[in-house]
Amino acid sequence: MHASMAGQFERFSSDSAVDKSAVDFGAGFVWGASTASYQIEGAVGEDGRGPSVWDVFAHTPGRINNGDTGDVACDHYHRYREDVEWLAKGGFGAYRFSTAWSRILPAGTGPINPLGLDFYDRLVDALIARGITPWLCLYHWDLPQALQARGGWLNRDIAGWFADYAHIVAERLADRVKHWVMLNEPNVHALLGHGVGTHAPGLSGQTTVAAALHHQNLAQGTAIAALRGQNRDLELGTVLNLQPVRPASERAEDRAAAVRFDALWNRAIIDPLIRGTYPGPLANEFAPLVHDGDLSIIHQPLDMLGLNYYSRIYAAYEPGRPFDAWFGRAPANLARTAMGWPIEPDGLYEQLVELRDRYGNPTVYVTENGSAFDDIVGADGTIEDSQRVAYLRDHLAAARRAARDGTALRGYFVWSLMDNFEWAEGFAKRFGLLHIDYRTLQRTPKASFAWLADVIKRAR
Ligand code: FCB
Repeated sequence: MHASMAGQFERFSSDSAVDKSAVDFGAGFVWGASTASYQIEGAVGEDGRGPSVWDVFAHTPGRINNGDTGDVACDHYHRYREDVEWLAKGGFGAYRFSTAWSRILPAGTGPINPLGLDFYDRLVDALIARGITPWLCLYHWDLPQALQARGGWLNRDIAGWFADYAHIVAERLADRVKHWVMLNEPNVHALLGHGVGTHAPGLSGQTTVAAALHHQNLAQGTAIAALRGQNRDLELGTVLNLQPVRPASERAEDRAAAVRFDALWNRAIIDPLIRGTYPGPLANEFAPLVHDGDLSIIHQPLDMLGLNYYSRIYAAYEPGRPFDAWFGRAPANLARTAMGWPIEPDGLYEQLVELRDRYGNPTVYVTENGSAFDDIVGADGTIEDSQRVAYLRDHLAAARRAARDGTALRGYFVWSLMDNFEWAEGFAKRFGLLHIDYRTLQRTPKASFAWLADVIKRAR
């Protein structure tokens, strides 16, 4: 073990030690870490990878804080072996990564780039060699630019393009990868990418949000059915960002906006997926998009659901935003992360309990949870990120309460293994347990890395 890590283990066992019962989730509980292709890989022009919407967006002046791009990012494409070693050092039993569609199919459809598949093949083998179970996410927002040129998520043909891509990846990797998630957070991709234009592909409008949501729902269902037909021994699911929504004030317009925002952000994805219907408040918006048979394609049996949780939402009436609703101010007394997101572990408990009570208690894994803080590298090179440790400790305690109260929580993946390209925020916001020096690309474990490694060890 790293010498500085050993010191951190000792420190935490005195001041921030976690009671064994607080992290005892029972046998078989999965401890993992998550990342995403564009946020870490770099090597955007190598080995035949085609451009994605994020390459184009990041290279458009003014879109990303500080003009940052994912051109190099964490250079994981070349350093994946070291990253797998870090996962092993942390004691992680699973690793959720995403495949870049345009590395595998540079034009989105058509010819396969074998070198792209080779990269993920090597990564999967390296993980398995270290006893780490690969969890593969097929889409974390980096659509091939060639498909954007054909309408991207506004074109319903994308359901077939996506299912074909899923099939190709599975043909190569499903002998070793058993855990597959289709999409990452279709709500964020729809609203920020297709509603207000702060994420790629940078589109704005209300009908575009509904179309991007419906077509993601359709693609997800089509791909799950395709993979299930192809290989019966896979665990199939998808990853949703669900956030309990409250009105930002007691004003009638904020209360009404909260109902619409909840319908858009949460229900427009989980309701058709698990219950086979679009939520009442937005049913009219979706009606023109829904063809006969769509809902039965979207309504798929799932082996598991991934839940990404960061905070609650306090929704406010805001004319001009899609559906005149937007993120409002959280109560002033709540502490916040460097993203400005309120810190509310109770919201994780509430969300898990809602899945139990309203959605039939699906098998669920927290597939992302974590926080950005302004980490300070000490004179001796250590990073004492005690706020991140407290965030993780409190969210794990909330998750444990939910598990004890009968939710089907089976695992927890931290966001993120390492600092990375945080979308429109560029490299300024750091969510990692490993610090990245973007000049040297050196990885350094923060105190939170040692802390979580200790938790995982005790929980076993
Ligand atoms: C989630 C994204 C992930 C990362 C975290 C902080 O919405 O899935 O890529 O940006 O937020």
